[in-house]
Amino acid sequence: MIGRYSTPSLQKVGILYRIIAHKKRVVNRHHHSASPPIATCFPQTLQVEKESQHNWNVGSLLLLRTARLPLVGFRGTISLIVLLAVLHRVPDKQCEKGGDNLALTVAHAPGKVILFGEHAVVYGRPAVAVPVQDVQAMAMVEDAPLGSGITVVADDLNHTFNLLDVPRDDPLRVIVSATLARLGVGMQVDLKITVSSTIPIARGLGSGAAISTAIARALGKHQGQWLTSRAISDLAFETEKIYHGTPSGIDNTVIAFEKPVFFVKDKIRDVFWVRRPFQLVIGDTGIASPTKVAVKDVRDAWQQDRERYEEIFDEIGTLAHMGREAIEVGDVEAIGRLMDANHKLLRLIKVSSPELEGLIQAARQGGALGAKLAGAGRGGNMIAVVTSETVGPVSMMLRLAGAKNVIVTEIR
Ligand code: PMV
Repeated sequence: MIGRYSTPSLQKVGILYRIIAHKKRVVNRHHHSASPPIATCFPQTLQVEKESQHNWNVGSLLLLRTARLPLVGFRGTISLIVLLAVLHRVPDKQCEKGGDNLALTVAHAPGKVILFGEHAVVYGRPAVAVPVQDVQAMAMVEDAPLGSGITVVADDLNHTFNLLDVPRDDPLRVIVSATLARLGVGMQVDLKITVSSTIPIARGLGSGAAISTAIARALGKHQGQWLTSRAISDLAFETEKIYHGTPSGIDNTVIAFEKPVFFVKDKIRDVFWVRRPFQLVIGDTGIASPTKVAVKDVRDAWQQDRERYEEIFDEIGTLAHMGREAIEVGDVEAIGRLMDANHKLLRLIKVSSPELEGLIQAARQGGALGAKLAGAGRGGNMIAVVTSETVGPVSMMLRLAGAKNVIVTEIR
């Protein structure tokens, strides 16, 4: 590549350019892994870097000639370096909307777990949920050829379709049309939306809400508009209705805000602080359990015996209050005890399963401070609070007990 540069000065510029490009790649990668950005354009930076290298050589020379700047010797090198410093941001700008057919926007959203209060939250009791950054949904929005409409590429499912070809209540169609309407843009746009996710589907980690959130964020950014976390949460709530039937709204809230939340349906969405970070181990039964089904079964049972279910929901609500307090004062042992108590109540409303019980027992045998199912139950994931001493044994016990996946995450 460097051989393409025709003079010694340009060779130096070529080396410098490659160093800057390399640094940009490293920064982008680091930025991506440490704290998922709301929007970035790193894949395209690499593409632009390649495509524009030749133009850079020619363009730099022409500019220097026009400006009558020296091209050779020490002064030539200095003038080229200055020119380079001015120009090296060009690829970033081309990433932004408005660059010549290069507009591309990427956004992410995390998974989540409910620490206290699932199911009871549907009936107006409080619940506590936290984001899980170790799993992520990603949406990439690109300008598409004129007249092509909106194409969705579901990367993980190897499925590509035109948005208007799927039913009106398809969650992807709902989030895209709701977001475009919110942005004041109709559906008559030409876009390619690629979605992918490392969040397992229907396992209580909020995959549906995360995909919706990532899409809404990417579309907002792509249209050059800022959508608040609340606006994004409200948009994602529209798809939660499809996934959940009668959602409380906790999933879209915690995922859009990306902070621990204390949540009461239609009333409270408090973001609160974790006094002392603590570790959670998340164990996957490998069983997909649609939230809609579990929520409906609980509703049917509640209709049969309202008094008893209301009492259980009250107790769960009290645990959620106490759980928030324990997190705010940094009492990790209490968090564990409260989780155990919450799980007992979830068992009473029949949302546990033999697989969940097996993993929860294994986590306790491994020394967890407490454990419970997380989310709709019946399958999906369980969570256990651990210390730095017990994180290893608990993870191992979970795997031995048949967990299909184990995630260790820090709640902060
Ligand atoms: O999406 P899940 O599996 O995490 O379940 C959400 C929690 C429920 O309380 C069961 C339902 C809801 O809408 O809050």
